Amino acid sequence: MSRAARAVIDLSALRHNFQQAHRAAPQQQLIAIIKADAYGHGSVPVARALADADVFGVACLEEALSLREAGIDKPILLLEGFFHTDELPLIQRQKLQIVVHSERQLEALASLPAQAFSIPAWLKVDTGMHRLGVLPQAVPAAWQRLAACPAVAPLLGLMTHLANADDSGDDTTRQQLESLAAVRPDPSITVSIANSAGILAWPASHGDAVRPGIMLYGVSPMLGESGAQRNLRPVMTLSSELISTRQCKKGDAVGYGGSWVCPEDMPVGVVAIGYGDGYPRHAPSGTPVLVNGRRAALIGRVSMDMICVDLRDQPAAAVGDPVTLWGAGLPAEEIAECASSIAYALFCGVTSRVKKETIDG
Ligand SMILES: Cc1ncc(COP(=O)(O)O)c(C=O)c1O
Repeated sequence: MSRAARAVIDLSALRHNFQQAHRAAPQQQLIAIIKADAYGHGSVPVARALADADVFGVACLEEALSLREAGIDKPILLLEGFFHTDELPLIQRQKLQIVVHSERQLEALASLPAQAFSIPAWLKVDTGMHRLGVLPQAVPAAWQRLAACPAVAPLLGLMTHLANADDSGDDTTRQQLESLAAVRPDPSITVSIANSAGILAWPASHGDAVRPGIMLYGVSPMLGESGAQRNLRPVMTLSSELISTRQCKKGDAVGYGGSWVCPEDMPVGVVAIGYGDGYPRHAPSGTPVLVNGRRAALIGRVSMDMICVDLRDQPAAAVGDPVTLWGAGLPAEEIAECASSIAYALFCGVTSRVKKETIDG
């Protein structure tokens, strides 16, 4: 029997969450965001399960190629476009779409030999995120240049990204929407604005194509909410087992640094999961886990391969008993909050040592 740490990926939950995105934005094209190995869930099984997605969004050519190698033939969008011009022949051959977000990329596309390329492209506009995109005042000229560029065909539309849509009380989103509307040269031009938060909380951001990411994996993008409040189901359940239990004495310090001291004689369990698996190193004592489906608290520091848990509520818990770190029954949002992190980072941080298994239904 090998180490029990595993991440179970529930594809039926993934499809359910996709349907929630579709229900919220029923007229829009759905660009399912599956970059960073589908936020740590496995981009190939995720792409295969999302047969109803119109397009898949990834960060770079390498991510797109691993999908193509697995036989995924749907349109794939490179959200950051190309990094170097030598990627363009492969982008063309693999029938990928690109986002053009900079003058540099515009120049490179304009200098390509006529007739050699026909790459579908979005023009990205910086409406307030101040990360990627051409500034609003530069949009008319950039749009004209791309439209006239023989290497670009078709010109798909204008894209922007929302900075604060997870906060439904923040005014930035309204300003970003106004900024994009002001530079849309023609209202018939396709726009794509909404991430998960836009889809769920900002109907005015839906435009023509939406880009759900984190909601597909069962997490609410909205501050202070859990996925269940939006009828989303967790896709990844990270679990392991108790590998040891012991009776500690009052005053015994548990783990590195002795940061947690037993307040009384008590049973302590050891779980085979640690930061070497992607469990957050900074999860403090008190962070919940499920032992045999019941809540128990992490105690002491997270080690590379192990954590310790307080078994006072389950003195009969024994080696081999199942432990859930997040997922079904224990929202990743809650663990992220305890560890001053975000569910995105927890999912992406799960390491290759953790066996991934997919289930369906
Ligand atoms: C350009 C772009 N669109 C959409 C998304 C999806 O965002 P979310 O996971 O918050 O839905 C991302 C993710 O970072 C992104 O970079």
